[in-house]
Amino acid sequence: MALAPVIAATGCAVRTAAPAAATRPLPVPPLAAPVVGADGVRRFTLRAQQGGTEMVRGTRTPTWGYSGDVLGPTLRARRGERVAVTVTNALPEATSVHWHGMHVPARFDGGPHQMIAPGATWSPEWTIQQPAATLWYHPHPHGATEKHVQRGLSGFFLIDDEDTDALDLPHDYGVDDIPLVVQDRRFTAGGALDESDPTDVGLLGDTIVTNGIAGAHFTVTTQRVRLRVLNGSSGRLYRLALADGRGFDLIGTDGGLLPEPVRLTDIQLSPGERAEIVVTMSPGKNVTVRSLPITERAGIDRAREFGFDDAFDILVLRAAETLRPAPALPATLIPLLPLVAPDSAPNRSFDLQWFMINNRRMDMNRIDMTIPLGATEVWTVRNKDNWPHNFHVHDVRFQIVAVDGNPPPPALSGWKDTVYTEPYRTYTLAMRFTDHADPTFPYMYHCHLLHHEDQGMMGQFLVLAPGQQPAPMDMSAMGHG
Ligand code: C2O
Ligand code: CU
Ligand code: CU
Repeated sequence: MALAPVIAATGCAVRTAAPAAATRPLPVPPLAAPVVGADGVRRFTLRAQQGGTEMVRGTRTPTWGYSGDVLGPTLRARRGERVAVTVTNALPEATSVHWHGMHVPARFDGGPHQMIAPGATWSPEWTIQQPAATLWYHPHPHGATEKHVQRGLSGFFLIDDEDTDALDLPHDYGVDDIPLVVQDRRFTAGGALDESDPTDVGLLGDTIVTNGIAGAHFTVTTQRVRLRVLNGSSGRLYRLALADGRGFDLIGTDGGLLPEPVRLTDIQLSPGERAEIVVTMSPGKNVTVRSLPITERAGIDRAREFGFDDAFDILVLRAAETLRPAPALPATLIPLLPLVAPDSAPNRSFDLQWFMINNRRMDMNRIDMTIPLGATEVWTVRNKDNWPHNFHVHDVRFQIVAVDGNPPPPALSGWKDTVYTEPYRTYTLAMRFTDHADPTFPYMYHCHLLHHEDQGMMGQFLVLAPGQQPAPMDMSAMGHG
């Protein structure tokens, strides 16, 4: 089946030809096979390595992957389990592996303070202490995250728990429960990744790759299919919809399931954000998952240059002639208890402007704030630019209490770890810092448009137990900025 032409209005080469027809089966990342020892620890291994893959059919593009040519296996663990990952760096340069969305001790967070030299191995270990959610992992080397992610390094980390098991949602991995990482790429004439000419929002590609390939289709054999969609791009926003206008049910966002399914016809995702959606299929009737032009663009200067006019096909869902019946979606999912900060909590502000947060660029040697262990805090994030930005916090999930003082729309009313910030709007976030105090290793907060992050639109905080004094490492002695 032929797809509608791509409209690529980015500042880079405009692709006017029809895109690759959806003739290639969607690759589903393999589930990592952990070894569970007598100690009960679930042990995974990952190897960051060089390889090559046909992102576009017929052209081999040099890529990087975890334990493979591109992307990485899906790690999966249950709430309460102890996990260990042995990460080996077989790349020619240093990298790190950050567990995006994970509540994890700071020294195992995998940010720019946990670099893995070429040939070295890093072995984080922690206990899963958060509800079921769709998380992901990716490199976080300061100044080079965009390049490492663009080359193919990212994977899913799924968390399961009993509350979610009890809901009877589609959960058969690779059958009716499908992880989808959506990314944009640009290629040189020779078929290599084109890493030149970032716009002010970063590298924008004219080719969409879904789970690493362009032109993917997936054959659905069940009446309902759950898509766990990750925007794994550097700077591009997507507005996902089904091409025939049928709606879908949003059941979860970054940090877990919503209190109840939300019926939508489209959902916008900025880099790093995830959405779990359930699509209801009809036998024999195909439907295309598409990204539509971004319509929320008030205050955005150069929307066209930032890719807001572009439309892309992401995946064709082919429905089998007979579909295995699926139960109706539960009317309620996971209850949401609102986080309330005490009056005594500081109200911290984060002004996003011009590659900076609060007028400062990232300094590995500067701790921007310390937070008492156990604190519930309200953070006020403002986009003071005419550019798109978003805001991501490590270690915690947050609730969006308000957008410009008003309650957030339903799609933003669940647990999040990354929020898109429209120009000149103010986002009030509530979060709680539990379990992990560390006077030495900080967590990060940053804009997740990777070019902005690399430019230094990032800061650091320590979580401190009572009586602990900050004792950060001197990173300059380690050859870091
Ligand atoms: Cu997904 Cu600090 O990042
Ligand atoms: Cu993160
Ligand atoms: Cu930004």
